[in-house]
Amino acid sequence: MMMSRAEAIRPFYVMEIMARAQRRPAGAPEVVSMVVGEPDFPTPAPIVRAAHEALDENRIRYTHALGLDALRQAIAQDYQDRDQIHVPVHRVGVTAGASAGILLSLAAVLSAGDELLVTDPGYPCNRQFALAVGAIPKPLVTNAEHNYQPRLEAIQKAWGPKTRAVLLASPANPTGAIVDLESIQAIAQWVRSKGGWLIMDEIYLRLSLQGPLRSALSVSNDIISVNSFSKTYSMTGWRLGWVVIPEALVGVMERLAQNLFISPPFLSQQAAIAAFSSETRRIADGYR
Ligand SMILES: Cc1ncc(COP(=O)(O)O)c(C=O)c1O
Repeated sequence: MMMSRAEAIRPFYVMEIMARAQRRPAGAPEVVSMVVGEPDFPTPAPIVRAAHEALDENRIRYTHALGLDALRQAIAQDYQDRDQIHVPVHRVGVTAGASAGILLSLAAVLSAGDELLVTDPGYPCNRQFALAVGAIPKPLVTNAEHNYQPRLEAIQKAWGPKTRAVLLASPANPTGAIVDLESIQAIAQWVRSKGGWLIMDEIYLRLSLQGPLRSALSVSNDIISVNSFSKTYSMTGWRLGWVVIPEALVGVMERLAQNLFISPPFLSQQAAIAAFSSETRRIADGYR
C-alpha cells in the first residue's frame, strides 16, 4: 500500500527528546538539555524593550504578508553595511523563522514529483519540507575528504531530469562546513543554466568564528537566501527570519505567504527592528 504524503513525514527527533526533557516529573533531577540548537543567552535588552513598547501600545495586528516595511528596510540596510550588497527592499520577505522561509521557498520552486538535492549529513527537516510539498529529497553526500563541502561536480552528477533545486547551508548544520563564495558562484550559475534554483540557508552566517563571512548574495542575485533571527540574536522563540527572494519569485512567494501565513508575527517584527541598532550589534557580537 502506498504511504500517504503526510505519513511519510518523520518526526524531528530533537523536538521529541526536548519534549521528554521538559516533561520530567516534579522533583526529578535537573536535566542539562543539549538537544536543540538554542543559544543560552537572553534576547538582547534593546529587542525586548522594543517589544514592550509595541505591546504597551497594543500594536498587534496582521502586517503585510512579507513583513513590516521598517524591518525589511533594516534587513536590507544590514546587507549594505556588513557586506556592501545592495538588496532592494521589495526582495526581502520576513517569515516565521528560517523554517517558514525554507517551506515558502520550496513551495515556490518545486512541483509534485520534482527532486530537491539536500546535503547528507544536513539539517534533517529539509528532507521533510520537500516531502511536505510533494517533492522528492535526493541526498548529496558530503565527506571528510572534502571537508563536508558540497561540490559542483557532485551536484552535476546528482542532477537528473526531475531535479529543480539544491538546498545548501553555509556554515552548515551539523558539519560547520563553509562553502566559499567562488564555489557558490559557480554552483549558482550552473544550477540557473539548468533552469533550477540554488537555495542557501545562511542562518549561521553571522556566527562564524573564522572572521566575518559575506553572504552568498554578494556573488549572485539569482539565489534564494534564507536567514533567521533565532541564533544570531538569541530569538529562537520569537519565530522570525527572512528570505532574500530573486526578483522572478517575489510575486509567487508573496502569494504563498498571504495564503499560508497571512503575515509574520507583528510583535516579533517590531522587536526585531531593534536587532540592527549598534547597541544590539555589540551585544550579539559579544554572544558570538
Ligand atoms: C540549518 C538550520 N536551518 C534552519 C533552522 C530553523 O531555524 P528557525 O528557528 O529560524 O526556524 C535551523 C535550526 O536549528 C538550522 O539549524
